[in-house]
This record gives sequence, C-alpha cells and structure tokens, in this order.
Amino acid sequence: MMLAYRHAFHAGNHADVLKHTALVAVLRYMNLKDKGWRLVDTHAGAGGYSLQGEYANKRAEFEQGIGALWQRDDLPPPVADLVGLVRQFNGGKALAQYPGSPALAHMLMRPQDQLRLHEMHPTDHKILASYLGDQPGVEVAMTDGFAALKGHLPPTTRRGVVLIDPSYEIKTDYARTLAALRESLERFAEGVVIVWLPQLQLLEAAQLPQRLKASAEKLGKKGWLHARLTVAQGDARGFGMLGSSVFIANPPHTLVAELRPAVAWLAQALAQFEGAHGMVEAA
Ligand SMILES: C[S@@+](CC[C@H](N)C(=O)[O-])C[C@H]1O[C@@H](n2cnc3c(N)ncnc32)[C@H](O)[C@@H]1O
Repeated sequence: MMLAYRHAFHAGNHADVLKHTALVAVLRYMNLKDKGWRLVDTHAGAGGYSLQGEYANKRAEFEQGIGALWQRDDLPPPVADLVGLVRQFNGGKALAQYPGSPALAHMLMRPQDQLRLHEMHPTDHKILASYLGDQPGVEVAMTDGFAALKGHLPPTTRRGVVLIDPSYEIKTDYARTLAALRESLERFAEGVVIVWLPQLQLLEAAQLPQRLKASAEKLGKKGWLHARLTVAQGDARGFGMLGSSVFIANPPHTLVAELRPAVAWLAQALAQFEGAHGMVEAA
C-alpha cells in the first residue's frame, strides 16, 4: 500500500518538538552507562527534512514549533538540548533543516550502540537509506515496523529503547500501537518504550493513553510517564489536532522532574490559543 502521509509536512512542528525533547532526554540517560543500547524506531520517516522544500512550506508548521524556539534564550534544559542538536544538524547556520528521530539518535549514538530503523514509504525509505544506511551500527529496512519489532527484542545487552511513532492515518494504528507496546514489554520487560500519540476528538485517540498505562503497569518493571502538550483549539466542532502526547513505559527515573517544567514552558512558548497547557503524569 502506498501511504499518503509524508512527515515532511509536519517536520519540526509542536508534536515533533515534544516527541524529540523526550527522545533526546531518554537517549542522554542511556548514554550515562557505557554498555551499548539499541534503538528500534518502528516508523522512522526520512531521517531529516528540509524546511525550505515545498512540503514543509505548504503549511509551515515548523514556524509554530522549532521556529518559535530558535531565537529564545530561556529554553528549559531538555528543550535546550534538542535545540542544540538541531543547530548542530544545521551546521551552526540558520534553521533550514530539521532532524527526524533517526538523525537525532545518530547524533547521540556511540560506537557500541545500534539503530534499527523501519520505514515503509518508498521515497522516505530511499532518503533514509542513502543518509544512514551505510553507517556503522545502523540498519535501515523497508518493512512494517510493527511486524519487525519483536525480532529486535530483547537486545543482547538488555539495554534498549523502542520508539513507536505512527502517523495514525489508518485507524488500525491505534490497536497496533497498543499491541506493539505489549509485545515489547512481554519480550523485554525493562525496555524503555516511547509512544507518540495525537490529541484528537476521536474515541481511539482518547482511549489509548489509558490502555497504554494499564499495559505498562501489568507488563513493565519501572512504571510509566505521560506528557501531553495541548496547543490548539481545533475547529468549531472540536476537530483537528489539539496537540499530542508521549507515553513512556519504564522511563528513566529522572525524566518526570526534567519534563514537567519543560512541557509547561513549551505550552506557553508554542501556544496557538489562550487555553494552551502542558501536563505530565507518572506512576
Ligand atoms: C510520524 S512519521 C515518523 C517520524 C519519525 N519517527 C521522526 O520522529 O522523525 C511516520 C512514518 O511511518 C511510516 N509508516 C507508516 N506505516 C508504517 C509501518 N507499518 N511500518 C513502517 N513505517 C510506516 C510513514 O511513511 C511515515 O514516514
């Protein structure tokens, strides 16, 4: 199936900022120990995106995301960490490109670490493969990331992170995401599993956090964290993306204290309406 979704439209928007702030904080934590880790990215995208291309400019979503942070000198530490990596990705110059999860992970990986990247869209896969396919420790596959996941778990070092970041373009993505989190924890109970989810007026989207929490409590070892960033109001009927959240099973114990002030700050910095707010809950 040819998927219509192209992440380039959305690269660098508020949802990417939230997701990537969390991902970078998790990988920094993994880097505190020498033992190698493996990141399994089930929905990797193209790896990096031009913000000047026709895709990004069509809606210029990045202007209300990374673009709104670029000149700020009061970034909270985990957001400053992400923005610093985006600056590095741009070679210290003006904001022209935005790194996807594979590029960020590649900037943070060490020789002992591994990236397992999956992308089904032929064009995005081609870009990703030409960018990172030959790098040591990196494998890029044009396969269904949901189906490939279990083959990568548990990592031999028993240190690992799973990123499940579908576009939720097809409704079955909700059920498959829940199944993928459960499968990850069944095979690797102490693994860090990061799930991105949209905040929408849609039953499947509204129910997913509760289901993820229940599964993480049953199958995981170190609890969960749920960080939500609401930036928009939606249209008159309440439709449209209001914001997004990241759910993390077995989060680093330091993460809640890092993310709580950062998400509250992001809600103000990226607000598109007066009621914008952030929330971080953990158990
Ligand atoms: C939200 S984007 C990923 C963004 C990326 N994780 C990042 O943070 O930069 C979702 C991607 O998943 C791809 N995709 C959709 N279904 C897939 C599947 N079952 N397996 C692998 N990739 C898939 C889409 O083509 C799209 O590029």
